[in-house]
Order: sequence, then C-alpha cells, then structure tokens
Amino acid sequence: MPMPEKGTDWESLKREMQERGAHDVKWRDGKTAVYVFNAGPDVERVQKEAYTLFMSENGLGPMAFPSLKKMEDEVVAMGLSLLHAPDGAVGNITSGGTDSITMAMKTARDFARKEKGVTGTPNVVLPYSAHPAFDKAAKMMEIEIRRVPVGADLLADVEAMGKAADERTIMIVGSAPCFPYGLIDPIEKLGALAQARELWLHVDACVGGYIAPFVRMNGGDVPPFDFEVPGVSSMSADLHKYGYCAKGASTVLFRSEALRAYMIFDTDSWPGGRMVTPTLAGTRPGGAIAAAWAVMNFLGVEGYRAKHKQVTDAREKIEAGVKALGFRILGKPQLGLIAYTHDEIDCMAVWGKLFERGWFTSLTTQPKGLHLMLSPFHLQVADTYLADLAWAVEQVKAGASGAKREARYS
Ligand SMILES: Cc1ncc(COP(=O)(O)O)c(C=O)c1O
Repeated sequence: MPMPEKGTDWESLKREMQERGAHDVKWRDGKTAVYVFNAGPDVERVQKEAYTLFMSENGLGPMAFPSLKKMEDEVVAMGLSLLHAPDGAVGNITSGGTDSITMAMKTARDFARKEKGVTGTPNVVLPYSAHPAFDKAAKMMEIEIRRVPVGADLLADVEAMGKAADERTIMIVGSAPCFPYGLIDPIEKLGALAQARELWLHVDACVGGYIAPFVRMNGGDVPPFDFEVPGVSSMSADLHKYGYCAKGASTVLFRSEALRAYMIFDTDSWPGGRMVTPTLAGTRPGGAIAAAWAVMNFLGVEGYRAKHKQVTDAREKIEAGVKALGFRILGKPQLGLIAYTHDEIDCMAVWGKLFERGWFTSLTTQPKGLHLMLSPFHLQVADTYLADLAWAVEQVKAGASGAKREARYS
C-alpha cells in the first residue's frame, strides 16, 4: 500500500483509528487476562499524561535531558530497594522484558569471557518453564540454550540444572514467577548452586518484580527470590507489567557496578563523536521513563499494596471457583498468574467457548490448561468469569467445540 499523496485531517484519522480499535479485545471491561494490565482509570490517566509530557524527549542524551536521567535513576533506585539490592547495586530502564533479558545475557557472556576465560560457544541453563526471550537473545548472540525439564512440582529442578551446567555456562536462570504456571522457582537453592559453582544466576522477575515484594508486605507467602539471595547476580523486572507503568519499560538490575560494566557500550569509532549507551537502544523514549516515574510515585507502597491485594483476592476467588468446577490448579501460585487443567475435559475447547463470550486469556500446553494473568480490575469481574467458565464447561461436556488459538505472539 503506497503512502497517500495528500495528508488527512487528524479528526478523520482519529475516528478511523477508534473504529479499528473497536475490533480489538475489550480489555477495559476486564475480559482480557493477558497482554494488558488494567489497574484502573486513575493509573491509566497518570501513564498517559506523564508519557505525553516527555514523549519527544530522548533518554539517549542525559546531558540534554537531565530530567530523564534523574527519573531513570530514581525508578531504578526504587526497584533496587524493593528487591533487597545491596549497596552498590545498579541498573537501567530498558524497553521491556525481552530487552532486559537480552542485556543481562550479553553482560553475563562478556563477563564470563573476560573474567573467567570462557571460550567457544557459551551456554545458558534454564528451566523448561522460562520465557522464550532467553532463546531469542541466545539466537542473536550464538549462545546455546539448555532447557532442563521442571520437577513434578513444576519448579526448576536445581539438581538437574547443576548437571546441565559446565565450564561454558555463562548463566543459570530462575523465574519469579515463570509465565506458564505463575510459580516462583526455588531461587535460594539456585543461589546456593550459583555460589558453589561460581555461576551467574539471573532471576527473571519480569512478571514478579513489582508485585511479589508487595504481596509479601500484604502477608503473602512469598519465598526469597531477589538480591536477598546472595547468589543472584542480575534480575529483570518489568515496569510495564505489574508495575502498572506505560508499555516500553522494564528494569535490568545488577548486584554491582563491576558486573554492569559489561553491559555498557562505549565507542568513538565513527566521525560522530563518542557514543555511550547502557542498553541496546540508541534513542530511548522519554515518555516510557517519565510514565514509570510518575506511576511509581502516584501509587507509592500503599497504592501498590492496595492494587496488588485486589489481584491476589481475585486469584484466590478464581482459584476456589475453578476448583469447584473440577479444575486442578497447577502448583501453588502466590502472585497474579494462575493456570489450571482438567482431567476430563478439553481445556482448549473451553478456551474457545470463553472466547465466544468475549474472554481473551492464555493457555498452557503441558499440561493443557487455562491461564490467567490477573489485574486489579479482575476482582470486579471474577464472578462473571466463573459463571462463563461454568457455562463453557457445560457446553464442552455437551460436545460443543469453540474457536481455536494457534499461537502466541508475545
Ligand atoms: C516471565 C517473563 N519473562 C520475560 C517476559 C518478556 O517480557 P516482554 O514481553 O516485556 O518482552 C515475559 C512476558 O510475558 C514473561 O512473562
């Protein structure tokens, strides 16, 4: 499609965009439990206004935009303090979880090459449940990925991971929590393995980093999963997930500046002068940094605790409801993700029936199950979900088949 010769007025374009959006999932109604975090209109307003205030500014230029540098430093400092980082720990804002993971892997690889003399093809050992972002980064950097089956409890099998690691292992990984089951891997045991074998342990807290600390404050049974565990070298924690910040914002965090030093890119090998960037991006959207800073300060600890309480209340309510319908919860989820399977009926068909009623949620494949990533707003629609789920189960029992979901694009 060629670019139109003449421009179109904004009002018409806006109308067309709104019409196009009308065919998207109705996430504001609470019927979407993947891709979007619905913390309510108050947070959405702060995200939007803060984003637009700094939308044209560029985090690539801290001398030009000291405001953004200060906001990034403060966001990172808040993240580090929530995640029990020791004095001297550091981090940066990236564009998202995949970006944070990629940068942590690059850093661990360069560290291993320089500090441990690792040569040849490096490898990363991770549980089967870890996010594909690690595979994506590995493909770009020619790193071998060694996925190790999870145990019967669906958690990382630390012993098996130890066996899979060798002298070319640049990183071992634990998730807090993993996406498919919403479960926190045994990070303390992984930390002990990392220390005993001098391995770099990365905790992928993309989902959990900005909810788990508050669930713990609310009295939730959250095991140590962050820098509190001595063997943890780096973490990824997404602001645009349970930090309820605008999309395009995550944090990548390191135990020390000595580790982070291997992430920084610094060159003067071109005629444009010296260029130093902490992360993969050149231009860094000021809006995402500003919105993260604003949302964190808007909510504060009290606000996050209240929003996350709604998430865990919704999860508990849904847990009880799905169990009553004969589903089996996978593991013991503590945060906002939950997955459940059914021994007698086809969960994929149930998913299809729910889709017909306007629900857009996720799936697990091993075992086949239904998956929800819950937001505060879901507390208001948990009863409707359970009623629709009961209907969908009856439909499937009666032989109905629903829409099919082929693949995830996330
Ligand atoms: C555990 C985990 N890690 C990493 C990611 C990747 O994050 P992003 O989609 O922001 O790149 C996700 C995304 O859902 C995730 O669930």
